[in-house]
Amino acid sequence: MAAETLPYRNARLPLEQRVRDLLGRMTLEEKIDQLHQCGAGDTNPNNLPLLAEQFRPTYGSFILNGAQPDLALRNALQRKCVEESRLGIPAIFGADVIHGYRTIFPIPLAQACSWNPELVRQACAAAAEEARAQGVDWTFAPMVDIAVDARWGRIAETFGESPCAASIYCEAAVRGYQGLEAGTSPALAACLKHFAGYGNSEGGRDYSYTDISPQRLWEMHLPPFAAGVKAGARTVMSAYNDLNGVPASANRHLLTEILRNRWGFEGLVVSDWNAVRQLINQGFAADEAEAAEKAINAGVDLDMADGLYRKHLGALMQQTRVSPGTIDAAVQRILRVKFDLGLFEHPFCPPASGEDLPPRGDFLKLAEEFAAQSMVLLKNRGDILPVAGSVCRLAMIGPLGDEKAALLGAWSQQGRAHEVVSLLEGVREKLPAGVQLRAAQGCAIDGGGRDGFAEAVALARDSDLVLLCLGESAQMSGENASRSTLRLPGLQQELALAVAATGTPVVLLVVSGRPVELAAVEPGMAAILAVWQPGTRGGAAVADLLLGRRNPSGRLSVTWPRTTGQIPIYHNMRPRARVSPNGEYQDFGTTPLYEFGHGLSYTRFAYSPIRLRRPTVSPDETLQAEVTVTNTGRRDGTETVLWFIRDPAAGITRPLKELTHFESAAIAAGASRVFQFEINPARDLSFPDGDGRRILEPGEILLFAGPESARFNVAL
Ligand code: NOJ
Repeated sequence: MAAETLPYRNARLPLEQRVRDLLGRMTLEEKIDQLHQCGAGDTNPNNLPLLAEQFRPTYGSFILNGAQPDLALRNALQRKCVEESRLGIPAIFGADVIHGYRTIFPIPLAQACSWNPELVRQACAAAAEEARAQGVDWTFAPMVDIAVDARWGRIAETFGESPCAASIYCEAAVRGYQGLEAGTSPALAACLKHFAGYGNSEGGRDYSYTDISPQRLWEMHLPPFAAGVKAGARTVMSAYNDLNGVPASANRHLLTEILRNRWGFEGLVVSDWNAVRQLINQGFAADEAEAAEKAINAGVDLDMADGLYRKHLGALMQQTRVSPGTIDAAVQRILRVKFDLGLFEHPFCPPASGEDLPPRGDFLKLAEEFAAQSMVLLKNRGDILPVAGSVCRLAMIGPLGDEKAALLGAWSQQGRAHEVVSLLEGVREKLPAGVQLRAAQGCAIDGGGRDGFAEAVALARDSDLVLLCLGESAQMSGENASRSTLRLPGLQQELALAVAATGTPVVLLVVSGRPVELAAVEPGMAAILAVWQPGTRGGAAVADLLLGRRNPSGRLSVTWPRTTGQIPIYHNMRPRARVSPNGEYQDFGTTPLYEFGHGLSYTRFAYSPIRLRRPTVSPDETLQAEVTVTNTGRRDGTETVLWFIRDPAAGITRPLKELTHFESAAIAAGASRVFQFEINPARDLSFPDGDGRRILEPGEILLFAGPESARFNVAL
């Protein structure tokens, strides 16, 4: 049969038939090569040509991370695969497209503060379109680990602390990346990561041990993954963390019993980078061969970067430590994704689309919109914001004012710092005529001396209002970027106190990948805006909010502690044995500085009491709850209603409050809107046991609706 007429090449045949046909033609060596992902992420770009030479045309996949898109290299590697290998199987090219590709959107932690899953979907679809044009087929996103500890650098990549919110955002991201919406951009394969429990890294240290009870695993860490599987994510990445003594990348309970057998996941599981080899460091494998054996038998199909499958699977099979069926199943899963993405029909990416063009106007507009919706106004004493017309002399002080790279955050892929609108540029551009804006850095982000303090203090004295820009650099969060303390780095806290001491009102703008300690400086600040790492259009969005061209609507997706020592602290904690003040810290108490869901607006919203259709509901019914929210201020605004439940007495204790549903909507000044929550008892009022089985008990459930969780603190 001529190569072109072989069944696996026939796009009209059912996918499973093509997979089976191709598998039947492969040698063992070709199969094992398919299970290898070759990494270029750590490689100096100068070495890429060498890497291309070493790349075998039968390899399954290639990582395309790097500072510059290299479409020519990608296509050259692909040409080797399809033209120089016996069966012409295309490689799949993966990259970390985390919060944008060329156009950078806010970090996921900030995205989650928008309470707008549709914006998440749109941003992921835009990123997919940009990345696909540069030859990326597969993104290692969304990351749906739950934020447990703000010291962990990767909190920036999470959708926050609520399993309910992370599940909804996860579904939106999968739809965005994979382009499941009719008529949207070309699809990437999405990857749910890091399965599972990575967010619980001990002490916030990266790559560390996690001790997670089965109860907590099921109610906190697994739900977003279940939601992503249901949404059709094609791939899952196994995590680095050792989970209760069995590292996630060799954890058969997680990868096979839960993911495949219980949830029916049929896609591909890729290990995290070098995670198979790291089983040796973790003390779970004596040598490379045992690491490969344990990973593949647990359910890891594709070995990212370390090459242990390629090196050892052949011998492991001969020794019957790995069965041919296990290898075939893994190969089928990678082939399925490739067929599904159309790589056999379209292995190359047209070079014309690879031109290094600046971001598209509509994507920049989306980035600005998203940045504005994700920032959170934490404090606004005496409604000092928006900046009043009487302010004539404005000062921008602090090391983050004229920063660009810091606004991109971690994993900014092809984002270019020079294209970022800094806070200074954004405000300068939008400032009304006649207002003077002067800037002083004051100190460095980290380290450095107090040499700039005098200039900053003098400028503050000579101004009507100070915009104080403090926070972190992009490198201070993300992978392998944990910090032992949430304190503002370097001399920034001192600078804040010195500037506040001038008596000039200060608006603090916090640029960061995590909540930072503000307890010491907060009393001296008239207003505080969490800017996060807002991406390419960050400064423009900040200017709109400060100047009142937009009304802030973001609300915290994560609890903001007063001090590092309060960690762990999250809205869905369980009640203590003794009620407050028993059990509190003597120095700082146990309430956070800002609650989960906190966020102010330039208008005010009033809530009606909740109306329930009936006071009771049986398991097979649904029950509608409603609340009317009225915009009682003079500005239009957007309100997010967060619905929390509390089960006051249960067979397994339940959290004090638990986010169960949310909805945002614009409400014009003076207008009212009815928000609804259709309560489905099996979904919303049940809880899992330590084996993941849902329990729905008869009894009383308390329901709360409001803008933040603080309101529902009972004296417990
Ligand atoms: C390691 C990170 O943990 C993971 O999130 C990422 O996708 C891979 N490296 C690939 O770059």
